[in-house]
Formats: sequence, structure tokens, C-alpha cells
Amino acid sequence: MRRVIETTTTGRVAAFIAEPIQGVGGFIEIPPGYFERVKEILDEYDVLLISDEVQTAFGRTGSHFWGIEASGVEPDLITMAKGLGNGLAIGAVMGRAEVIDSISPNLHISTFGGNPISAAGALANINYILENDLQRNADEVGGYLKERLLKMAEKHEVVGEVRGRGLMLAIEIVGPGGDPDPPGAARFMEACRKRGVLVGKGGIKANCHPHLTAANHHP
Ligand SMILES: Cc1ncc(COP(=O)(O)O)c(C=O)c1O
Repeated sequence: MRRVIETTTTGRVAAFIAEPIQGVGGFIEIPPGYFERVKEILDEYDVLLISDEVQTAFGRTGSHFWGIEASGVEPDLITMAKGLGNGLAIGAVMGRAEVIDSISPNLHISTFGGNPISAAGALANINYILENDLQRNADEVGGYLKERLLKMAEKHEVVGEVRGRGLMLAIEIVGPGGDPDPPGAARFMEACRKRGVLVGKGGIKANCHPHLTAANHHP
């Protein structure tokens, strides 16, 4: 991190943005201790940490409401979207007052910001998530699913890895040599669809299948 800041930037970096679990990247979990160490270095250079929680928020990861909480690190800003609106077009940024208040209320930053229908829908959605403890549901159902997927992975060579937490899980589809198998992943996706299971596809080689089983978490 220090080397990147010193050699590839002007030295005046506004922010570092990262996902607590990489989403489209293939549901890659961040190694333990990573954010803790990175935050120390960012603080040295006065760089804000933004946790991009567009995929990891609202209890989806099971253990915590926000994905970054698993690291014990408090970010300066959190971005959120998909799980907030349950399909309605809405996004939000939450952060330390000092950072948020630095933007003048007179500054116009969004055409659709505050759309009343999306806002009402998001409020109802958040209430539903909290009242029905969907975080615990993600933990229980996701835990069960991961356990079963890990067992299946032992038997099936096409599974490279099972990754993720809560209901943010992916299985990586690989060929005989262990290399990513994008056509195999496409066949897997189609086979799931025929059996009534909708899965998404991600990863650099598009060979990872995020299992998006919670009604309130849209791919
Ligand atoms: C983690 C993450 N951040 C951001 C975005 C996209 O946000 P936007 O549509 O505002 O560019 C996505 C979209 O899938 C995402 O998964």
C-alpha cells in the first residue's frame, strides 16, 4: 500500500475504496488483518477509507450488518445500493459527519436523489430486513449452504473453491487442470436455471457462481 501511494500517485490521495468481499471479482474474501493494516497506512497518509458495500451490506454476509465490520475496522465512508432498494433504483453514502458535512447542502449532486417512491420503498425494505432479522437468516441458511457446498466440492473436481460468507457465496468452476472453466460455468448456470435455481456469474474469467438466494439481495 505504501509503495503504491508513493510510486503510482501524486502523494495526495483522496480515498481508497474497497469491497469487504469482492463481488464481481468472484466473491474473493479479504485475508484476515488486511483492512486493519491498510487502515493504519492510509491514516499515515491522510487517505480516507471507503467501504463499497453495494453487495455486502444489510446483513447479507450473516455475521455482521455491514461487511467491513468483520474486520473490526471503521471506514470513513460506506457506499450502499442493491440491498437498500430491493430492486428499486436507490443508492446511499453514509459516513463520518466531518466528511459528509464538508459537502455544502447547496451543492447539487444527484438528479434522482431523494426520489420519494424509491425512498419509501427502501424504508419499507429496511424495516422488513430488521423486523424479520434477515441477517440471522443469512447466517443460518448461508452457513448450511456453505457446509453442503464444501462437502460437494470434495467429491466434484469441477469445483475449485467455495468462497464467501452468509448468503454471499460462490463456487468456482474449474477444468481438469484446476484452471478457470468459463464454458463449464455457463453450462452450470443453465443447468441450475432448468432446475429452478437462479445463480449469477462473476470472477475475472466469469467462472464463479454467486448464489443469490436472499429475496432482498439482487445481483
Ligand atoms: C460492489 C459494487 N459497487 C458498485 C457497483 C456499481 O455501482 P454504480 O451502478 O453506481 O456504478 C456495483 C454494481 O454491480 C457493485 O457490485
